[in-house]
Amino acid sequence: MSGKITFTMIKPDAVRNGHIGAILNKINEGGFKIVAMKYTQLSKEKAGEFYAVHKERPFYGELVDFMSSGPIVAAVLQGDNAVESFRTLIGATNPAEAAEGTIRAAYATSIGENAVHGSDSDENAQIEASFHFSGTEMFM
Ligand code: CMP
Repeated sequence: MSGKITFTMIKPDAVRNGHIGAILNKINEGGFKIVAMKYTQLSKEKAGEFYAVHKERPFYGELVDFMSSGPIVAAVLQGDNAVESFRTLIGATNPAEAAEGTIRAAYATSIGENAVHGSDSDENAQIEASFHFSGTEMFM
């Protein structure tokens, strides 16, 4: 399969609530190819670095604490129009506004603990994928 990539994390809330399998199923059914994947835990420092763009936002501290609070599944997905199609599949950041059938509508509990991350641009997808995976860990 060709196509562009996006980067995702199954966040600590979804891992804790036992939703890894169901979310990976949705990703497969959505037509994405998983080209890299790892089960890992972010240190506070790494979570802060990953979300540095939100440093000035009032929720930054909470976000860093939450994202380092337990294991995550990090993955790179390939597919047509990957960034936009994956954002459609996961739904709005706030699960209260996420469309029915989306991953966040099904598995997120709040705007902060929203089950999954999805890159917001092709450029950020590349940066985020490289943050978590080396070239030899991605199988395009
Ligand atoms: P994500 O797509 O991973 O990118 C940034 C994250 O910040 C977002 O998902 C949310 O988990 C979190 N976030 C965004 N807005 C808020 C908010 N108002 N309060 C708490 N967390 C937020």
